[in-house]
Amino acid sequence: MSAISHEEVTSVHHWTESLFTFTTTRNAGFRFQNGQFAMIGLEVDGRPLLRAYSLASANYEEQLEFFSIKVPDGPLTSRLQHVKVGDRILVNGKPTGTLVLANLTPGRNLYLMATGTGLAPFLSIIKDPETYERYDKVVLVHGCRTIAELAYDKLITQDLPGHEFLGELVAEKLVYHPTVTREPFRNHGRLTDIIITRRLFEETGLDTLDPAHDRMMICGSPAMLKDLVGIVRDMGFTEGNSNHPGQYVIEKAFVEK
Ligand code: A2P
Repeated sequence: MSAISHEEVTSVHHWTESLFTFTTTRNAGFRFQNGQFAMIGLEVDGRPLLRAYSLASANYEEQLEFFSIKVPDGPLTSRLQHVKVGDRILVNGKPTGTLVLANLTPGRNLYLMATGTGLAPFLSIIKDPETYERYDKVVLVHGCRTIAELAYDKLITQDLPGHEFLGELVAEKLVYHPTVTREPFRNHGRLTDIIITRRLFEETGLDTLDPAHDRMMICGSPAMLKDLVGIVRDMGFTEGNSNHPGQYVIEKAFVEK
């Protein structure tokens, strides 16, 4: 396929004033691995304005799905937040990224650690049956400032466990741990803090993190990545890539400045 395809917006959902999701048609030639991102965007003044967006849809789904922030003066998202069904989105046909199962060695539990829109790549990972074949438990930890920002909680807690083909695996293996930092919620605290205080393990009933058994994918802001990577490296985790699968992999969540 050519480098950039034109897709049509098929649905738009606004979660909050600063978060929204949209789906598009999918070019038949567009292939990706779950967890990867693609450059997508809009034509502005006759030129493509593209940013890296994780695919929130799984690679077997008919449509593409993207989870985005809205930045009032962001060159792309100030425009993208107004897209409507039928509008045209540009999608570069060559997805890439490190948050793929093949970059991790086998293990016991897979931790998917996300803040904000860093959740997006993990949505495709938790819809992938191979994820559940490889690991005993798949622990999705999503940290947000507010409860309203815990997007996709219904998909994770209701739709996927009830899914025709995936439901049984999800119900048995997926552990969802949403946590909020700036208002009261049943789980409180930053991802970094709930690991250090062990609250994450007490509340999920799982053993404490151990590089001998556990694997981790991390997606969030640069500050979150730095702090969380510091913690897991101190625990002895080593980073994986496509040449050398390892015990953790990271990717920056999309942040438009
Ligand atoms: P906090 O509310 O304590 O800043 P943001 O919207 O700024 O990306 O934040 C999303 C979530 O990530 C918030 O819950 C925020 O907590 C948390 N967070 C921000 N910085 C870090 C960090 N360095 N390590 C772990 N979590 C972080």
